[in-house]
Formats: sequence, C-alpha cells, structure tokens
Amino acid sequence: MPLKGVSKQLGIPFIELQSVDSTNKYAMRLVHEGMAIHGMTILAHEQTEGRGQRGKGWESEKNANLTFSVVVNLKPLNTTQLFHLTVCTAVSIWEAVSNIAGDRITIKWPNDIYWDDRKAGGILIENSLGTSTGSTWKWSVIGIGLNVNQTFFSADLPNPVSLKQITGKEYNILEIAKEICTLLDKNFRRLLEGDVKELFKKYREHLYKKNEAVRLRKDNRVFTATIKDVTESGQLVIKHAIEETVEFGKVEWVMMNE
Ligand code: BTN
Repeated sequence: MPLKGVSKQLGIPFIELQSVDSTNKYAMRLVHEGMAIHGMTILAHEQTEGRGQRGKGWESEKNANLTFSVVVNLKPLNTTQLFHLTVCTAVSIWEAVSNIAGDRITIKWPNDIYWDDRKAGGILIENSLGTSTGSTWKWSVIGIGLNVNQTFFSADLPNPVSLKQITGKEYNILEIAKEICTLLDKNFRRLLEGDVKELFKKYREHLYKKNEAVRLRKDNRVFTATIKDVTESGQLVIKHAIEETVEFGKVEWVMMNE
C-alpha cells in the first residue's frame, strides 16, 4: 500500500550540477523557497563550500567523489526518530559500500562510514520546519559525502580513504549515487512503516569497534572504554569502570594518531 504523502521515490527528481557551494545548502534554499519536493536529490561534481559535521568543512576533489543531498518531507519528528533517519541513511550507505569494498566497512557512531580505521564517508542531516499549503512540515536534507576515486588527500585530514584506494578500481559516481538512492528509498519506507528493527540490527552488527576497547574524550578527560551498543535514541553505550550511555557531542573519539 503506498504511504500517504511519500509515494514519491527518494532519488527522483535527480538534479546533477557541475558546481555548487554545497548540495545541502542548495537543497535547503529550495526548502525555504517552497520549491522542494520529497525525494528530490541534488548531486554536484564540485562543492566550493562543502559542509561537514560540527561546523567543519567537507573537502572533496572536483569530479572525483560522491557529494549529494536527498530531501525528505516528514511530519515533525522527535529526537529519537531523527536518530532513526541517521540509522536508515548509514545502513543504506553501508549496504552499497560494503558491496563494493567488502566486510571491513563499518559504521562509526553516529554517522561515519569507515574502512578499518579510515574514514570513507560521512553524513550531514540538516532539518527545517516549513509551511506548505497551510500545514507545517518538517523537512530534512540528508547530505552524503563518499570518497570514491580520489587518491591524494590533504595532509590536514586525519584518516581519509577512498573506494579506489581500497580496491584499486575506478567507479562511476552516478551509478553509486543511484544505488544509494535505491537503498535509501527501500529503507526509508521501512522506517515510515515503523519497522526499524532490521535497520537497527544492521547498524549494531556493523558498528565500528563493537566490543573493542577505544580511547574516548569526555569533559576534557581521555579514557579507555569498550564500545557495547547504541540505544534507539542514538546514545553510545560504553563500558569502562561502569556501563554508561553517552550522547553525541558529549564524547569524542580519540584516534590512534592523536
Ligand atoms: C561529515 O563531516 O562527516 C559529514 C560530511 C557530509 C558531506 C556531504 S557532501 C554532500 C552534502 N553537502 C554538504 O555540504 N555536505 C554534505
């Protein structure tokens, strides 16, 4: 049965741009101008002001990588459901990327795609409240950056990796984008039907460093803890002297080379 208001497919329409400041910004401008359509996807071969998590930028070589944003139209979500959207996106990218690069691909809490200890991709979801034909809608822009064919990275980036570096092969950017959109659409429908169990199962199964000891920083203190799990509302479950849950933003990963 088609879902009310979301019968349209994620990935359609598909807008391909040569260059833009940021596909997330472009999509958000369309949302604010009332021009956004659920499912609309914007891909750019170059971003001049790519945005990353926590106010950082997102560097990506022109014509080498995947940088795109998918617009979704949702009824207002609570914070738990917002994490479900992250899970849905991360699992969709994991499915596409692990098909190409194998089982060393993991999901680093909350929203990075890793190959061993190196970052292959990231997700930036931005939200907006808007009004459309009298009703209030919550729009989310799902921004996805994936290193595909780039082989040299700036020395400032701590641990990047691309699919080409992993497999030695060049990839068609548009084909990977469309595959991710197809998976995202399938998983998003599950999410709307309230079926998050399978998505969480995959997210947890492929969680970076699960059951391994890692270094974390919290309140300026660096400590060792074992990664145990992720809760439905998006907290990381860690175990050190005690078992506790920590929120994104309150704890930071300390990488090997720090
Ligand atoms: C991160 O910091 O890990 C998140 C990176 C997200 C980058 C993507 S690239 C497409 C979209 N447009 C942006 O400006 N950022 C996201």
